[in-house]
Amino acid sequence: MMTQNYILSLDIGTTRASATLYDRNFNALFSSSKHLNQYSPQPGWYEQDPDEIWEKLMSCVTNLLIISKCKPSEIAGIGISNQRETTIVWDKTTGKPIYNALAWESRQTEPLVQNLINAGYTDTIHDKTGLFIDPYFSATKIIWILSQVDNARKMAEHGQLLFGTIDSWIVWKLTKGALHITDYTNASRTMMFNIHTLQWDADLLKIFNIPASLLPEVKSNSEVYGNTNADVFFNAEIPIAALAGDQQAALVGGLATSVGEVEGSYGTGAFIIMNTGKQLVMSKRHLLTTIAYSINGECTYAIEGSIFVAGSALQWLKDNLEMIDNVDDVEQLAKKSTDDGRLYVVPSFTGLSAPYWNANANAATFGMTQKSTKYDYVRATLESIAYQTNDILTSMVKDSNMPIKNIRVNGEVVKNGYLPQFLADLTGTTLHKKTAPNIDSLGVAYLAGLAVGLWRDFNEISQLQQNDEALQPNMSPETRKKRYHGWQRAVKAVEFYTE
Ligand code: G3P
Repeated sequence: MMTQNYILSLDIGTTRASATLYDRNFNALFSSSKHLNQYSPQPGWYEQDPDEIWEKLMSCVTNLLIISKCKPSEIAGIGISNQRETTIVWDKTTGKPIYNALAWESRQTEPLVQNLINAGYTDTIHDKTGLFIDPYFSATKIIWILSQVDNARKMAEHGQLLFGTIDSWIVWKLTKGALHITDYTNASRTMMFNIHTLQWDADLLKIFNIPASLLPEVKSNSEVYGNTNADVFFNAEIPIAALAGDQQAALVGGLATSVGEVEGSYGTGAFIIMNTGKQLVMSKRHLLTTIAYSINGECTYAIEGSIFVAGSALQWLKDNLEMIDNVDDVEQLAKKSTDDGRLYVVPSFTGLSAPYWNANANAATFGMTQKSTKYDYVRATLESIAYQTNDILTSMVKDSNMPIKNIRVNGEVVKNGYLPQFLADLTGTTLHKKTAPNIDSLGVAYLAGLAVGLWRDFNEISQLQQNDEALQPNMSPETRKKRYHGWQRAVKAVEFYTE
């Protein structure tokens, strides 16, 4: 009789590390989290301290074990979800990072990216990795660290350095250096991983001049990779049983596990992922082709679109325009709007993301009248998030030739009732809103539970899972068409007015 009834889920996001304990019915029994600092030594540079990430994560686990009174021996397995692309290079002998973690949003590798584009590698890289050349992905971050830190290139060539995304770093620490691994989802965001052959790509490593000895071994998303080392983990050897990048973990947590299902995660920015099954869809509309998950030797693919400004647009209403006191009030305020939807806010503060991909676009407001109120602004800002989502969904259907079966949403920004309902109206599709507080951590809890035999398969999980909140579309096709047409005209105008 198995007495290990719990899954420990560790989630390392951009701003928060957390540890959550799940029982066999997926109840998040206890959770502990800590804020993670981000440093910006120069405009556009974002860095984090890998030791701080590790220490804060362990302090979350310590708190969790105290408040839950759970013994480590009662934990059946550990799952880890993480902010993707963020890059750490460390010395394998001392265990010390040679530079801060370069965060996924960091743009300091812009010149390296430009060199690769000028050298004509755009298509090669897209064909092999499903990504387009951008500082977002890990490869140029590694090149940058090797070129900036004294002696680093030499050490890398002598096999003394290791690279990892946050998952690799945490597993290496949990196992006291015994395991240097990553998983397919995280590997697929490095710009070095061939998503067709499912291996690190030797040609790309040559182009980037990155020694293969730096790279972790790539594993599936659900298997026992090894155990924690008792010296560093509460005197216990617990199976580490799942790894996944956080957006892919959210896709699993939302059980968007069939072809055509979409999961949208809404935080500061938003990430929309569509499951394309065995089919590897190469986008013509600036969507990324990525790995959704790999279980029992079967790889499931996805396409992904990101929205740069989602929750941060609401923050802008509060901090810059001072129109609202509290982001949690947006729903009531939007409902006070008497405008007929003619006001459009295009919040492209950092350029337009997918499917337009125009880094130089400015933000703008259209359709203002003398009667416009702050309520109209709040409403139009919320609606802009739905319009951008709809842009991505439309591109997904065109790129994949697959109908969208189901849309699920999660995250802080969709907690208000207005935005998800408007998205259901705009797409004309039933929308499922996840009520679980942290769907990334739930996703890797599922994956870890599958690996250690707590659950058989996704079917069993979906039967046990609580129902989502379902929102039905409630807008006439004519209104939908008119409103979306207005948005498209607004975006066109923004594209025209670039700097
Ligand atoms: O690709 C970056 C993404 O994984 C970051 O996610 O939720 O930490 O902002 P989040």
